[in-house]
Amino acid sequence: METKLFTEDSIKEAGELLRQGELIAFPTETVYGLGAVASCDESVREVYRVKGRPSDNPLIVHVAEKDISAYVEHVPELAAPLIEAFWPGPLTLIFPAKEGVFAPTVTAGHSTVALRMPDQPLTLRLIEACGSPIVGPSANLSGKPSPTTASHVYHDMQGKIAGIVDGGTTHIGVESTVLDLTDSLGPVILRPGAITAEDMELVLQQPIRVGKGSGNGADAPKAPGMKYRHYSPKQPVILMEGTLSDWSRLLAELVQKGRTFGILASEETIAQLQVEPSAGQKTVYSLGRRDEPLQASHHLYAGLRYFDEQDVDFILAEAYPIQGVGGAFMNRLTKASTWRYPEEAAKMHV
Ligand code: TXA
Ligand code: MG
Repeated sequence: METKLFTEDSIKEAGELLRQGELIAFPTETVYGLGAVASCDESVREVYRVKGRPSDNPLIVHVAEKDISAYVEHVPELAAPLIEAFWPGPLTLIFPAKEGVFAPTVTAGHSTVALRMPDQPLTLRLIEACGSPIVGPSANLSGKPSPTTASHVYHDMQGKIAGIVDGGTTHIGVESTVLDLTDSLGPVILRPGAITAEDMELVLQQPIRVGKGSGNGADAPKAPGMKYRHYSPKQPVILMEGTLSDWSRLLAELVQKGRTFGILASEETIAQLQVEPSAGQKTVYSLGRRDEPLQASHHLYAGLRYFDEQDVDFILAEAYPIQGVGGAFMNRLTKASTWRYPEEAAKMHV
């Protein structure tokens, strides 16, 4: 199958292909999604198949309007202020599902459904051209870092899907916040994203819980997707939590053992380490300024994918403060990491 690239001028054609049951990848403000008509069971099954996604991991349905009453069993009270404040935007809300609206495979047997309205005009027009909501898991092969450019999608999906809408590089770079509105104990974050608990507390004037497994550890998650190995390049990733002298000590050890490595770090750290790319031995990929976690989240997956393509033995990635979007960045980076340094230095096979 030829995978066609679509742009602003050919959105109608892409929407028509979706309507006919084809798979079309689309840009959002977070990462690229893999689109299919959410009410078509055959197309949705194909999404799972093409991604190699476990069938117990439900999909997010992307809508192009704020009125979601037709898609859910009822609209919880807290939904309206959140939708008003954050849609279109990187917030996915979990609602009680209404039977018979979406294909059964969308919710993977759950009684709830995840909805989000992405902040990407091209994709809102795509959904309108298609005429109905579309599913959109991240458009990567299962387990690989999510795509933040059309060429990342092409790399993973070439020949497997009908097309990709090219919207350039995504702005935020990590997936949306997932907030469950169906829990009897009150709203709970199942996956952290650019919209934080504090952002939502300000709107709702009530506390938002952060669910197990959506922090930086790997404890039992409620969003089924959070339990799988994620975002991982082929090499082990070492999460660098220490000081500059910890960096220097590990670099010296790797050099001494003849190991090759890539460094994914802030501009400041890269400058201080004074590593230079030499004979393929050392490579660096900048996450931007240390005090700008949005820059780091924007660059994270592109950096992991970059080193995935390089012939290096290890990836050393810099830990950031868990604040604002830094929380989502650290959640994804921790999940991608094999060891933490220096804490797990004794366990490392380097
Ligand atoms: O930013 C995003 O959300 C991107 C873009 C493309 O919109 N999409 C995305 O989809 O990240 P995906 O499939 O890679 O992640 C969906 C997450 C998974 O962790 C899944 O388990 C969870 O949302 N999820 C979906 N439906 C759910 C439900 N009914 N209950 C609990 N978790 C759900
Ligand atoms: Mg994903």
